[in-house]
Amino acid sequence: MKYLEWDTKFFGRPSYLIEGREDILTIDSIGKSFITAKVDMGDVDFIFDLQKKGFVFIDVEVSLKFHIKYSEIINYCRNIDCVVKSVKVNTGLPYLELGSAFHLTRFHMDPNIASGKANELWISYLRNFLPNENRKMYVTYLGEKAVGVILSTRQEGIAVISFMAVLPEYRGKGIGSQLIAYVVRDNNYEVITGTQSRNIPALNFYINNGFRIYKTKAVLHRWR
Ligand SMILES: CC(C)(COP(=O)(O)OP(=O)(O)OC[C@H]1O[C@@H](n2cnc3c(N)ncnc32)[C@H](O)[C@@H]1OP(=O)(O)O)[C@@H](O)C(=O)NCCC(=O)NCCS
Repeated sequence: MKYLEWDTKFFGRPSYLIEGREDILTIDSIGKSFITAKVDMGDVDFIFDLQKKGFVFIDVEVSLKFHIKYSEIINYCRNIDCVVKSVKVNTGLPYLELGSAFHLTRFHMDPNIASGKANELWISYLRNFLPNENRKMYVTYLGEKAVGVILSTRQEGIAVISFMAVLPEYRGKGIGSQLIAYVVRDNNYEVITGTQSRNIPALNFYINNGFRIYKTKAVLHRWR
C-alpha cells in the first residue's frame, strides 16, 4: 500500500493508495485511515473483495489520451480579446474562484468530505503548484484578469494535465480549447488527462478537443 503524505496532512489522518490485490491482506492491520483504491472496471472480484473490507464505490475515473496527429491545432478564443501566458512564478491568480470550479471530482462525490473541504483541496493544489521545466502553467488573461488555467506535468515523455478550469462566466468561448492546444503543442501531442465519468461536459469537451478514452477505473474509498 502506498502512503500518501500530502493527503495525510490535508485530511488529518493516515492516507494510503491500494496498489494491488495483495494489499487487501494488510488492510485489517491498519487503524484509523483514509484509503483509496482505483481498480480496472472489469476486475469485479477485486471490487467485490474491497467492498467486503468496507470500501464504498465513489465513481469511475476516465483516462483520455490525445490522438489527433495534425499540426494546426491552435484554436483562438471567440469574440473576446484573450492572451495566453506561460506563467513561471505562480502568484496573484484568483485561486479561490478557479479552485472552486469543480463540483464532480471524487472528493466532491465522497459524503465523508464536505464540499467546502473538497474545494479547499483544489484551491490548495493550484496555489502550491510550482512551475518548472516539466511542470507547466498556462493562464488565459482578459486584460489583467486571469480567467482560465491549465496545469501539466511531464513524466516519462508524456504530459499529464492535472488541472484545468475556466471561470464559469467565461466558459463556452474557446478559452479551454485554446489552453489544451498550448499543452498539446508544447508536448509534441503526447498528452493524457483524466476526469470522473459524472463530469459529462468535461468528457465531451476533451473528446471534442482530440482526446479518446483509453481506460476506465472504479474509484473506491474507505474511511475508518
Ligand atoms: C471544461 C472547461 C475547462 C471547458 O472550458 P471552456 O472555456 O468552456 O471550453 P470551450 O469554450 O473551449 O469549449 C466548451 C464547449 O462546451 C460548450 N459550451 C457552450 N457554452 C458553455 C458554457 N456556458 N459552459 C460550458 N460549456 C459550454 C460548447 O459546446 C463548447 O464547445 P464548442 O467549442 O464546440 O462550442 C470548463 O467548462 C470548466 O472549467 N469546467 C469546470 C472544471 C472542469 O470540469 N475541468 C475539467 C475536468 S478535470
